[in-house]
Amino acid sequence: MKTYADRSREELLEELKLVQERYDELKSRGLSLNMARGKPGTDQLDMNRPMMDLLRSDSDYVSDGIDVRNYGNLEGIPACRRLFAELLGVRPENIFVGGSASLQLMYDTISKVYLFGRGKGAAPWAKLEKVRWLCPAPGYDRHFTISEAFGMEMIPIPLNSEGPDMELVEELVRNPAVKGMWCVPKFSNPDGIVYSEKTIRRIAAMETAADDFLLMWDNAYCVHEFAAEYRPFPDILSLCAEYGHADRVFEFASTSKITFPGAGISCFACSEENMAWMKKLLNAQIISYDKVNQLRHVRYLRDREGVLTLMKRHAEILRPKFACVLDALDREIAPLGIARWEKPVGGYFVSVNCMPGTAMETWRLCKEAGLTMTKAGATYPYGRDPQDSNLRVAPSLPPVEQLEQAMEIFCTSLKLAALKKLTAE
Ligand SMILES: Cc1ncc(COP(=O)(O)O)c(C=O)c1O
Repeated sequence: MKTYADRSREELLEELKLVQERYDELKSRGLSLNMARGKPGTDQLDMNRPMMDLLRSDSDYVSDGIDVRNYGNLEGIPACRRLFAELLGVRPENIFVGGSASLQLMYDTISKVYLFGRGKGAAPWAKLEKVRWLCPAPGYDRHFTISEAFGMEMIPIPLNSEGPDMELVEELVRNPAVKGMWCVPKFSNPDGIVYSEKTIRRIAAMETAADDFLLMWDNAYCVHEFAAEYRPFPDILSLCAEYGHADRVFEFASTSKITFPGAGISCFACSEENMAWMKKLLNAQIISYDKVNQLRHVRYLRDREGVLTLMKRHAEILRPKFACVLDALDREIAPLGIARWEKPVGGYFVSVNCMPGTAMETWRLCKEAGLTMTKAGATYPYGRDPQDSNLRVAPSLPPVEQLEQAMEIFCTSLKLAALKKLTAE
């Protein structure tokens, strides 16, 4: 089969007619499908039902001598701190267990820096004229939403197969107005890139002009392999400390995609200095988070081995869904040369880079044919993809039969958008 680039105008017009017919036929089916957000499927949620039986009216609510039903232990119950410490490869003292969303801890961390400043003599960022922030892109839209909410000036950083473009990062952090950076080091959202150890070391080691530079290390997918054996990752806290930057980093994680999104538990990990700063400020805000849920999670997940075993069961459910998406792309799109994509082995997304200038049109065509996708542009700061090329596919929620239909609409829309652009030129 010839790629679109190799076809004559007549051949393209002929193909456009066929693809348009196919699209109209799909549209006439009146489907309603959704590949927009990285939500676990119902079967994944059902798998975790037994967790809800572990704390009942006649259960023992005491853990390490603490009655979890009562006030206290702002930083979380020791058993839960041990569990997250094991997962992240840090010490339990470095862990703070929060509520049901790591995103809330991220927002809260940044809001505290804006209001109170962090580190000796550092000004609250709200008092600064400009806060510039590094945003590896494509990236997680909600990170960018947080940055935008605080009025940061976001600077997109290209990603390569080893992580962010470090030449550029190292150059930009020489500017004192550059105050921090988002990172999703394992199975980045949406590309599924795993940062190399070399890149991680460079991030920990780099000299930044801002003393209060804040590395937001969002390890949301740290145990989320679906098509590979679990791969250990470096501990960013000790690496930063090794290079004399112990206070640079806050690491985040949660059980949103291990147990229940929105009803799980979250944590941050940080240096002793940062922990003292955060606890002092949080103390004015809350007496303790939901320790009953913390204990329920500890009894269910037990330890690192317990989590990894559960993640294998999630992988069994997710693997066929990702295979469905990747097979459709290989079969329908690869021979035409109109898009590139990564083949992730973990995380929750497939990131598709279509012909520049066709992502928004593809998204619109999908919508009109009944398929909701993450809006084109959402994976870039301010929702502006300079190439209008990136689309994020989230295969986890729909059952495989629905995914097959969704991918038919997606691939047809990709083709139609490309053909319209090529024949208009
Ligand atoms: C990179 C990343 N971080 C954080 C989250 C949300 O985590 P939580 O549910 O703990 O707020 C997501 C969810 O999609 C994500 O992709």
